[in-house]
Amino acid sequence: MEERLTISKIKEGTVIDHINSGKALLVLKILGIDKNSKETVSMAMNVESKKMGKKDIVKVEGKFINEDQLNRIALIAPSATINIIKNYEIKRKFKVKIPKKVEGILKCPNKNCITNTEREPVKTSFSIYKVDNEIFAKCLYCGKKLSELEDHLE
Ligand code: CTP
Ligand code: ZN
Repeated sequence: MEERLTISKIKEGTVIDHINSGKALLVLKILGIDKNSKETVSMAMNVESKKMGKKDIVKVEGKFINEDQLNRIALIAPSATINIIKNYEIKRKFKVKIPKKVEGILKCPNKNCITNTEREPVKTSFSIYKVDNEIFAKCLYCGKKLSELEDHLE
């Protein structure tokens, strides 16, 4: 007999499924969920997935995600699927899409970059590209290239 781990279905809110394993805590952080949050949240880490081997899942009751959060999730968990739930039914299901360009999301580590000047700093802007399934970003202003994007989220 097949054994399956099930987390309860939710009535209203967002299910983020197929999260690259190990990234669920980061997804919670992106959603602004911490010890003070009142939402009902469930999550699973490193569960079996037919498609991915292992995956993480995050379910948040009563919360819907915005464009900025969606872009951040795409950068750190590019295989994630978003399910919008209303009255227990899936109203929308879509895969996150890696944005071509992000503004005000990543911080440039180059101290001399114009985005890091103390007076009149410029809003950060990065182009996003993929090499062999790994995601990188390049600063529009100084050309600095970033990997490990989760370490550079603003
Ligand atoms: N889900 C939920 N509450 C609901 C409906 C769905 O928590 N009221 C969750 C399911 O547990 C699952 C995800 O939303 O984690 C997607 O549901 P569904 O499309 O039914 O599952 P799958 O067919 O396995 O999804 P996929 O095809 O995206 O792998
Ligand atoms: Zn820069």
